[in-house]
Amino acid sequence: MTTTAITDIACLVTNDPSLGDGSPLGLIRDAAVVIDGDRIVWAGESNRAPAADKAVDAGGRAMIPGFVDSHSHLVFAGDRTQEFNARMSGRPYSAGGIRTTVAATRAASDDELSANVARYLAEALRQGTTTCETKSGYGLTVEDEARALRIAARHTDEVTFLGAHIVSPDYADDPAGYVDLVTGPMLDACAPHARWIDVFCEQGAFDGDQARAVLTAGIAKGLHPRVHANQLGHGPGVQLAVELDAASADHCTHLTDADIDALGQGDTVATLLPGAEFSTRAVWPDARRLLDAGATVALSTDCNPGSSFTSSMPFCIALAVRDMGMTPDEAVRAATAGGAAALRRTDVGRIAPGARADLLLLDAPSHVHLAYRPGVPLADAVWQRGARVA
Ligand code: NIG
Ligand code: FE
Repeated sequence: MTTTAITDIACLVTNDPSLGDGSPLGLIRDAAVVIDGDRIVWAGESNRAPAADKAVDAGGRAMIPGFVDSHSHLVFAGDRTQEFNARMSGRPYSAGGIRTTVAATRAASDDELSANVARYLAEALRQGTTTCETKSGYGLTVEDEARALRIAARHTDEVTFLGAHIVSPDYADDPAGYVDLVTGPMLDACAPHARWIDVFCEQGAFDGDQARAVLTAGIAKGLHPRVHANQLGHGPGVQLAVELDAASADHCTHLTDADIDALGQGDTVATLLPGAEFSTRAVWPDARRLLDAGATVALSTDCNPGSSFTSSMPFCIALAVRDMGMTPDEAVRAATAGGAAALRRTDVGRIAPGARADLLLLDAPSHVHLAYRPGVPLADAVWQRGARVA
């Protein structure tokens, strides 16, 4: 294999405290990284770098791990511009808008859906996202959900079955029947194509008992749980996620003290999705309280045509710092190592020997610029599995 040394990195975020200055970000000043094939083989101070076959000069810029976006909904067709416009004129967000996207998605061809996933993943990659989870949830029939997952799996390993996004319009008068469908024939058809099972536990979607039924059925089929929890109001989602040792409770916008304690003590990551609060003009989740309680926090885009039509992790970092009480260091860590934790992955989200060579070189001298220079395209170069892709 050919080794490549990336040298003259002014500021390297490793997310490995043992490598750097002892901070959670594991910062190294004047650093180098050596990659071999799809792996990182060395990271440290430039003057100690081992010889390599090739060299890339980072020109005194900052490098961080590629972003890990652990929550997106990319298998969809159409958009919801009118709904967004109405919201910006004062109409509140409601989960009912999901039905618009369900109709458009069902009507779309496989090729159209696959091209959409590819387009948004490419858009994210250009901004530094090298790992991206994505979900079904706009099909809501056995065939349409299985199709969405098959298409998602062509593009990413992190695929989530969200048949329990809302009660299908076909079952409007029989929500219990829809839960039976999701936990029975739909799960049978979908489980082979997914790693995760998710449910939208919220008023207007699925209550605590229904969510528990969905998640436990998925677990019995070998899927791992994650939960859309406490987005629009208080509810049982977070407690259920922690009780079932879900990898992540996502949204976490409306939390009680008991919810914060549970997330602080359990292994379930609190995944915050500030694009959704931005695009629905909702209150911000309190990242500060979660961090102070000891919770692991992830930041993700929630990219979807209804509540958060952004693929930009830098945008989410800037919002989290400005409006959710996170420091720039915490937000960058949440968008990299936090996302990896929310996907229970140790091979991404860090720059250390053995990790995947997923790297983001910033057109800036420090990772802090991601929050300091909001809206500015700072992704200078991106490596995914050792290949330079942007
Ligand atoms: O995570 N909350 C549920 N699902 C998405 C929104 C989906 C939509 O509005 O199309 C979310 O915000
Ligand atoms: Fe979501």
